Amino acid sequence: MLLEGRKALVTGSSRGIGRATALAFAREGADVVVHYRRQQERAEAVAREVRSLGRQALVVQAELESPEEVGRLFDEVGETWGGLDIFMANAAASAFKPVMELKPHHLERTYRLLVDNFILSVQRAVPLMEGRDGRIITISGHGVHYTLPRYGNIASAKAAVESLTRYLAAELGSRGITVNAIAPGVIGTESEQFYMGDKLEAFDRACMEATPLGRVGTPEEVADVAVFLASKLARFVTGQVIVADGGLTLTSGPFQQIFGASL
Ligand SMILES: NC(=O)c1ccc[n+]([C@@H]2O[C@H](COP(=O)([O-])OP(=O)(O)OC[C@H]3O[C@@H](n4cnc5c(N)ncnc54)[C@H](OP(=O)(O)O)[C@@H]3O)[C@@H](O)[C@H]2O)c1
Repeated sequence: MLLEGRKALVTGSSRGIGRATALAFAREGADVVVHYRRQQERAEAVAREVRSLGRQALVVQAELESPEEVGRLFDEVGETWGGLDIFMANAAASAFKPVMELKPHHLERTYRLLVDNFILSVQRAVPLMEGRDGRIITISGHGVHYTLPRYGNIASAKAAVESLTRYLAAELGSRGITVNAIAPGVIGTESEQFYMGDKLEAFDRACMEATPLGRVGTPEEVADVAVFLASKLARFVTGQVIVADGGLTLTSGPFQQIFGASL
C-alpha cells in the first residue's frame, strides 16, 4: 500500500473528486478526515466506506468561506490525530457568470474560499506536518489556461492557487513538504452537471470528440493522480501542475473539427 499509516485531510470529500480521493487514500492505507459543508449524510456514508476498508475516518463539517471554521477544522484534526501527513485542498464553489456581470460578493466569496482561506489552511496544516514528509495537493483546472464561458471568477482564483502552489513549494521544500497541483479536464461530477445544465449531454459528446482518449474523466482518475502525489513515489516532485484531461488540451478546435481528436 502506498499510504500506509498516513493521516490525510481532503476538503470537500462528501462527493465528487474529493470523495473518490478520500476512498482511494483509504484503500492505500491512509486514515482520512472526510470534510463537508452541507451534505452530512453523504459525508457519513464516505466515512463508513473508509472504515469498511479498515481505516479511521473523522467527519468534520466546516464552511471554508469562514476563517473561524477553517481554524476549527484544523483544531479538530490536531486534537484528534496530533498531526497530519497529507492535505488536499479540493473544496470549491463559485458563481458562474461573465466577468462583466460579477458583483463584489461573488468575487469575495470565491476568493475567500479558494485563495484567502486556502492560504490560512496551509498555515494551519504545516505545523501539523512537522517532521512527517508532508504533502499538499491543490486543484487547478482547465479554465486557468483556456477561456470557458462564465468561468472567469473561479478560473482566476484557481490561477492564484496554481501560482501559490509554486510559491509554497519553494517555501516549504526545506521542511520536506511537497506542494503540487492537479489540473483536471472535464470530469463527470455534480459540479459539471450544475455548470452545464441542460447542455450536459451535448457537452459530453463534444468533449468525447475533442479528447484523444475519447471520453470525459471520472473522479477516480483524478484520485489516482492524488494518490501518486501523496505517496513516496512523488517524493522528488514539487511545485508542479499535473494535467489529467485525457489529452483535451492537446487539441485545437478547427483542426479537430476537420481531422478528429486523434488526427
Ligand atoms: N468536475 C470537474 O470537471 C472539474 C474540473 C476541473 C477542476 N475541478 C475541481 O475539482 C474540485 C472538486 O470538484 P468536484 O466537481 O468534485 O466538486 P463538487 O462535486 O461540486 O463537490 C464540491 C465539494 O466541495 C464542498 N464545498 C463546496 N463549497 C464549500 C464551502 N464553501 N465550504 C466547504 N466546503 C465546500 C462540497 O461540500 P457539500 O457536499 O457538503 O456541499 C463538496 O464536498 C474542485 O476544486 C473543482 O473546482 C473539477
